[in-house]
Formats: sequence, C-alpha cells, structure tokens
Amino acid sequence: MTLRKAMDGDLSPGALDVVKTAPAHVRHRALVAWVASIAARTRPARIVWADGSAEEYDRLCAEMVAAGTMRRLNPELRPNSYLACSDPDDVARVEDRTFICCEQEENAGPNNNWMAPEQMRATLAPLFDGCMRGRTMYVVPFSMGPLGSHIAQIGIEISDSPYVVANMRMMTRMGAAVYDVLGEDGAFVPCVHSVGRPLAEGEKDVPWPCNPVKYIVHFPETREIWSFGSGYGGNALLGKKCLALRIASAMGHAEARTGALGWYAEHMLILALTSPQGHKVHVAAAFPSACGKTNLAMLVPPTGFEGWTVSTIGDDIAWIKPHEDGRLYAINPEAGFFGVAPGTSEQSNPNAMATMRRDAIFTNVALTDEGDVWWEGMGPPPAHLIDWQGKDWDPSCGRKAAHPNARFTVSAAQCPSIDAHWDSVAGVPIDAFVFGGRRSSTIPLVTQARSWDEGVYMAATMGSQTTAAQAGAVGVVRRDPFAMLPFCGYHMGDHFEHWLELGRRLSAKGARLPAIFCVNWFHVDGEGRYIWPGFGENMRVLAWMAGRLADTAGGEETALGVSPRYEDLHWTGLEFPKGAFGQITAIRSEEWQRELTQHDELFRQYGQRIPQELLRIRDTLGSRIEKSGKGVQQK
Ligand code: OXD
Ligand code: MN
Repeated sequence: MTLRKAMDGDLSPGALDVVKTAPAHVRHRALVAWVASIAARTRPARIVWADGSAEEYDRLCAEMVAAGTMRRLNPELRPNSYLACSDPDDVARVEDRTFICCEQEENAGPNNNWMAPEQMRATLAPLFDGCMRGRTMYVVPFSMGPLGSHIAQIGIEISDSPYVVANMRMMTRMGAAVYDVLGEDGAFVPCVHSVGRPLAEGEKDVPWPCNPVKYIVHFPETREIWSFGSGYGGNALLGKKCLALRIASAMGHAEARTGALGWYAEHMLILALTSPQGHKVHVAAAFPSACGKTNLAMLVPPTGFEGWTVSTIGDDIAWIKPHEDGRLYAINPEAGFFGVAPGTSEQSNPNAMATMRRDAIFTNVALTDEGDVWWEGMGPPPAHLIDWQGKDWDPSCGRKAAHPNARFTVSAAQCPSIDAHWDSVAGVPIDAFVFGGRRSSTIPLVTQARSWDEGVYMAATMGSQTTAAQAGAVGVVRRDPFAMLPFCGYHMGDHFEHWLELGRRLSAKGARLPAIFCVNWFHVDGEGRYIWPGFGENMRVLAWMAGRLADTAGGEETALGVSPRYEDLHWTGLEFPKGAFGQITAIRSEEWQRELTQHDELFRQYGQRIPQELLRIRDTLGSRIEKSGKGVQQK
C-alpha cells in the first residue's frame, strides 16, 4: 500500500491493532497508518518503535551477540565495540540490482537501471508479502542533517534488521526527537527494508539473514525507497546512498525545475583547511567509493606544514545549497562514518584509527586471538586470526583476512579532527570543489579549471578504476561523472546542466563561484608502484589550492587548465624528485587522444541531454591537446 492510500485510511482490522502499538509521542497519523499498512503486508511477529537511546542500542547489540550476528570485542582493547560478519554473498552495494523508477524512462538516464513504477510495484509485491514473518519489525525515525535544520530531510526506515537499527543510530540523527520535528503532519521519506528471509514457526535463524534476490528501489517522484534481500551497507542503511544521494539529488534537481535555484546532493567529503595565519577555507571533494575520501577528510598535515590544520566536516556526502549571500553552503547530512577498513592504519589515517578506538561496529574484518580486530594494511599480520568468514587464518594461507570492502561504523562526534561547525544548521561556505578518480596514468596530479564550466567538464568526464565497494570486477576504468554514477537519481546529462545552470545564475547575481580542481593521486610506475606518496602528503596539493584561492600560489597554464610547476609546491619534509613530479604531471598527447575518445563515447551515451556548452569545451580541449601535444608536455 502506498503512503497516500494509508493516509486515506485504507486499513485492515489487523493493521488497526498495529496502530495501537505506536508510542504516544508519535502524533503523525499518516505515518502510523503507513507503518500499519507495511506491517499488514510484511506480517512481522512484533513491532518495535526505535527510540535511539543508549539502552536500546545495548539491548539490540546483546540480542545480536546472542543470535551470532555479532560478537563483542575485548572491552579492554576495544571498549563497547562489536564485530559482525556477513553472508559471503552480501558484502557490497549491488549496483545491477539498484533501480530508479520514475514515470519516464528517459528521466532516469542511461546511468540508472529503470523499471516503470507500476511494474516495479507489481514485482516487489510478492517479495514483500509476508517477508518479515517471524521477525521483529523496527520503525526507525532519522534525520539527514541537523535535527530541525531547514536543510535537513526526515526519513522513517522500517527494517527487520537489528544490525540496520544499530548502524543507523551512528550514521544518522536517529531517535524519538525526530517525531517532535515531524509533528502531526511533517514530510518524511518512507523507506522500507527487509532482509527478505522470513522465519517459519520454530525455525532457527541464521547469523546474517539475506536473500539471493535483491532489489534496491527508488521512486523519485513519490520519494519512496524499497530495499529487499540485503543487510549490507548502502543497500540497507537507507539514509545513506538511497536517501542522501539518489532521492536527494533528484529533489535538488526537481526544485531547480520549478524555477528556484535548486541544490546539489553530491558524493563528496567536506573539509576545512586553516593556514598558520588563521585563514580558513572549505573544500568539498568528490571521489568514487574506496578512493580515500575518509583519509583526505581526516588528513594530518605532514612535516613542513606546522601551524596548518585540517578539520573534518564529512567523509562521504555533501548537500550543497545556494545561500542569500550568493555563496554555496554545504552540510554533511550524515552523523557517522561507514568507512572502508582495509588500508586504514596509524600511518594512513591516525584520526580514523582514534575515532574507532571505542564504540564502533566492525563488519567483515578479522578477529585477533586477543579479541580485537585486524585487516590488511593495518600493520604486521598476527600469526593467527579468525578471518571474516570465521575460518582460521595465518599469513601463509593465501587468503585475505578481512573482506576488501570490510567497514567500520562510528559516530562522527568521536573523530579527533571533527570541525567545530560540522553540525552547523547553516552549513559551511564552500571555496573549492575537487574531483578525483583512481587513474594509473593520463590525469595529472592537480589541475585548476579556468572557469566554472571547464570545471563541470572535468567533473562530467571523470573516470576511475572500480573498487571492492561495488559488487563486480575490480580495477576496470569506467567513466564515473562527478563520482555519482551509482548515486545520481536522475539523468546524468540533466545533472551536468543543473551544475552549469546554477553556476550561470549565481554568476549573474555577481557571486564568486568556488574554484574547481581535478586531482589524481594514483599514478603508477612500470612496476605498478604508486609514484605519489598520497595520504598526509596530499596536504601539499591542498595548500597549493589554498594559495590559488588567495592568489598567492603560482602555476602555469596547460592544455587542461592551470597546474603547479615543481617550484609552486611546498616540498619541505618530503624528498620527491623533479623527475617523478614530471611523470605525474605530464600531459601525454597519445593518452589524451584516447581519453577524449572516451569522453566522446560518454557524451554519445547521454545523447541529447548533454549540454552544448560541454561539447564546445570538448572541441576546445581537443584543439589545445593537438596544439600542445607534439609529444609530452612536461614540467
Ligand atoms: C560508501 C560507498 O559506502 O561509496 O560510501 O560505497
Ligand atoms: Mn561513498
């Protein structure tokens, strides 16, 4: 039953009983009626209205420990923390099972799987029919963005997974206070989630219930989310990718189509960079999944940058809105981090390590004999572990101890580098956007776009090698415009136009638009080794950007934009030879001919909806590459 039908009071007598389970502080009749309608359909054994309290969290974790879903870690080594290990077939987002069901197929674009809404509802109906039998149905109220902020959006997730409830408590502002904001008739995004594994009378549950049939479905016009069959990450924590990116991006675009300016929901970290003189700038940076957004957001400035601070506002998602002063302000709609564990260490990200020292949920990492966690890249491997699949592991066994997409969930407030304004209702003013992908060649270390439109072109044509964050082949270069390929809830061509149009309209008001940069930390040499040291050393590039914003840093014009010469970066504390710098900043004509062919293919794929402006920039870029390119442009 849809929310509208439920609001019309179309309730069966059984559903009316459910209404009686609602706590007194839930005064929203349509919401209660909707919960009743979902219960009538999914037929859970009981309903729990989650309140977000610490007692509830502790109780759920204890129940999951008893059920074998999680185990408590050694409280001396990792206080109040748990390890969950999933079914081996439920370890990542399932992009091929993710759908945008808008009325017109062309509005979903080639970037999304599409099915007509009525056909999808008919497909989901038998799956959700009785799917929660024998289980508890949780009603989880949450706010994306600070509670009560005009920028925030409220969602109600109905889920039959206690793991989801526990994670949502850290990842969102979750709990009873949301009902006060909603009042009697506030708007919310209804989200229905089931692991899709009903229990027969007396049947013993499995530790990680899920279903081989999976559907992650969005109806952008009616703003509903339905997820079936997976309990993992972005498939199941519906505030994150489903609401805060797919539905929110469609909302921001739909608003622009009413004549308002609209807004952006982007796959971006947000950080603040403060110079020794106290000058603070805010940067929002888009990278595909598992390309180091959390590491960059929590960067610790290296030797040579004494007096600089990097503070964290968000590590994955930014909602960006124009303000009356003509500037773009961003909030992090999330309240926690669901970070990739492998590769995270005291060296690569000491702030993340400190954040997860306690009160954390780990998923699909390995267990040490002392009852703590371990993953590849954390440090030297212990002699013995229990791997993420529960098997004995030793360094010679040839298997990974942690799944490559293993995760940690922690509250953002625990992060030592969290910015004082991370929770600000107004958001922070953005001075620069950064777009980056994982590319072993071709894309130089850093380039500043000469204009907003040129920056939009860079973002639109981004490519990146795939990672373990999504099911499927790893390491294949695919175009990932704006790092939003799996997350844009509407036609990607319209997304490009939305960016160009907002830029035009803000410029017309006399606003100074943020600068746009394109980066690539991932060049490899002939032996496949990374050339640029990355991690904290990326500070050298951030500081150059800050210098460009302040008009104090030099650079030279290239075919692509403006890039630093060797002497424009601050090198104290790092020995990085000029030759290596030349390698990661070269613009090689033959590589760029191939790259431009791929831009053309991308634009052909998006057809008529590619803005003319981008085609014009493509042509100019082509001529520039040709002119500059008799060989290699090297600094
Ligand atoms: C994530 C992802 O979990 O992008 O953030 O996959
Ligand atoms: Mn992400």
